[in-house]
Amino acid sequence: MSPRFVKSQREMEGRFEDVWVLVDDDDGLETWSSEADLTIVGRPAVRHDGPLRASGGARYTVDVALPGMLHAKVLRAPVSRGRVLSLDLDAARRTPGVRAVLGPDGPFTMGGDPPLTAEPSWAGEPIAAVAAETPEAAEAGLVALALELEERPPLLLDEGLTEQRFTEEPREVVRGDPDTALASADARVELTCETPAHVQTPLEPHAAVVRWEGDGLTAWVSTQGMFDARRELARRFDLVPERVRVISEFIGGGFGGKQGAGVEALLAAELARAADRPVRLALSRHEDQLVGGRRARTRQTVTIGGRRDGTLAAIELAAVVEMGAAGWIFPVAEPALSLYACDNVRTMTFPVRTSIRAQNAFRAPGVTEGVTVLEQAMDELAAALAIDPLELRRLNHVERDQGSGLPYSSKRLLACYDRAAELAQWTKRDALREPQPDGLLRGMGCATQIWWGGGGPPAHATIRLDADGRALVTTGIQDIGTGTLTSARMVAAEELGLELDRVVVRGGDTGPNVYAPVSGGSMTTPAVMPAVRSAAGKVRRILLSLAADVLEISADDLTLAGGRIRSRDGALDVDVTEVTDKLGNATIDGTGTRGPNPDGFRVNTFGCQIAQVAVDAGTGLVRVERVVAVHDVGRIVNPLAASSQLEGGVIQGVGYALTEDLIVDPTTGVPVNGHLDDYKVPTIADVPEIVWDFVDIPDENLPNLGAKGLGEPPIVPTAAAIANAFAHATGRRASALPLTPARVLETLA
Ligand code: MOS
Repeated sequence: MSPRFVKSQREMEGRFEDVWVLVDDDDGLETWSSEADLTIVGRPAVRHDGPLRASGGARYTVDVALPGMLHAKVLRAPVSRGRVLSLDLDAARRTPGVRAVLGPDGPFTMGGDPPLTAEPSWAGEPIAAVAAETPEAAEAGLVALALELEERPPLLLDEGLTEQRFTEEPREVVRGDPDTALASADARVELTCETPAHVQTPLEPHAAVVRWEGDGLTAWVSTQGMFDARRELARRFDLVPERVRVISEFIGGGFGGKQGAGVEALLAAELARAADRPVRLALSRHEDQLVGGRRARTRQTVTIGGRRDGTLAAIELAAVVEMGAAGWIFPVAEPALSLYACDNVRTMTFPVRTSIRAQNAFRAPGVTEGVTVLEQAMDELAAALAIDPLELRRLNHVERDQGSGLPYSSKRLLACYDRAAELAQWTKRDALREPQPDGLLRGMGCATQIWWGGGGPPAHATIRLDADGRALVTTGIQDIGTGTLTSARMVAAEELGLELDRVVVRGGDTGPNVYAPVSGGSMTTPAVMPAVRSAAGKVRRILLSLAADVLEISADDLTLAGGRIRSRDGALDVDVTEVTDKLGNATIDGTGTRGPNPDGFRVNTFGCQIAQVAVDAGTGLVRVERVVAVHDVGRIVNPLAASSQLEGGVIQGVGYALTEDLIVDPTTGVPVNGHLDDYKVPTIADVPEIVWDFVDIPDENLPNLGAKGLGEPPIVPTAAAIANAFAHATGRRASALPLTPARVLETLA
């Protein structure tokens, strides 16, 4: 074993960073091939915590109730832009039951971004916070603050375009000579489409409970990144990170909107310190819809020039991205730059500041918005060139990342097209447009998916095998609802040669200090599972060498599978406990780290979705009847969890295409539909038939598993495929999504 530092590239949602990472991948493990004789990995397994979650037994952050715990509420800006004129902090402190009050001028504004402001720049921005014996007393404390503010006119998207109010410089990327190539193309199409402000809407709103313990604290946080939360809390309160314990055992989704400690944990920690009592701060559903975040609204114009043979001559993209009050830009231009082979590309991105909450990450941020418009323009080009839309995509397949010039570590997109076409009966597509007995207009459309999701170091795991022959796998995974802990259990059991029920897996707690990255960027499976397998490989080798001593046979003559140690000649066949029961209270320990991704490749995920829709031209109602989703994400560890991810992504994509949009009052700039009855996420009645498949071939260039991530890919192409199906059905294309009945009627008129 030889731990060493290696220089590696870390990728998170398309941002690349060079880092030194500690690697100890000297475990002799090869990537499991497609032919490897696996008995657990690759077969559907129910998640071990499913019954607990489904029965209400799982303790989410909002369920944490500590002795003496106070309840916190936040005073939020009722207007989208303004300045606090007066705030009666003393009156709030005198309110019965109130134990701590924080205002924008308090000690909390030191260092870093103060989570409380006296000059709100979006509706809902926190101004003050109160902790009290009961939620009602906290509410009364907020009223006693008697906020008065001066209102300022909101910054709105359209004005931002003329005033050029950018959160950062407009970004231009040019490849080749797009002007000349466009001018000389055989066909040119131009399409403008607005994409909606899409709210993550996790089932569990943002929440934190914090308890101080001497010179440290324990924080229960509903977060996608408990180690990031630990770092932020330690920094802000000047604590030793090991004295900050973050527990994120059960999380009701995040979708990108729950990064790090969040305002909730920071405020709860400060209130808890001020009151010297534990504090819970949990957002209401309505608060979460307004302040949790959203995917940025965009207005994109795509121009594509095509040649008669179906190849692309040039692509031009101009994308206006509504950033809100702050924030950075997500890779909206990436699909134009990398989805198809094209030598001449120009992309321009304009991030515009407005008076709404800063946009934040939402499941494949940027790329989903980009694909949603680019893929509609591709269908327009297919029509202009009289080429089948799926064929047009095949004709422009590319084996390299055109930005870096590097080959993809593996890319089986053509297989996705073939399989999706077969499952959707693509060849019968035009028959859908014949008059239907039910009077509905039907159509079918496709779209291509690209995203990253290769994961990478650092990620660690430890495994301890005890006298009962049971393995305890400790990881830093916070399972945000995807079942990744179950995958870790499967990988450990497979490599250890133990049955699943002899493996116990732990995560959701920074206490053991076993690091895993944020559950974002589709990286948990590709980052953590190789570390788990590496740790298991080491334990397995130690176990077999101990078995050799006990059984007086060479370790090379022994095999381990299904909890049995056998000799290759078949003479010996014993349970692992025959060896482990000699351990007493000792354990066989192994640690694993995630090795680097190979140099010289880009690691991406790919896929194709085909949607079939039915449109009622009388009511404007669009129903998605079926979505076929076929993706290439390398090896599939747990097909059951993977299919759930696909279904979830598709359903969220249906909402993006048809109903979801956070709408802002054009006079006040305040969001008007922050409730689930007016911001409509799909319900079970809206869910189409979802037909899925995976290429499921390991990426031989990735360490020891060949698995990529799947959290984000499935949402990427759904809305584009639906919009293309709508255009196929009706012959019209809407200038904006979502395709609400009103917009559909307007488009068809
Ligand atoms: Mo990112 S949207 O947290 O996967």
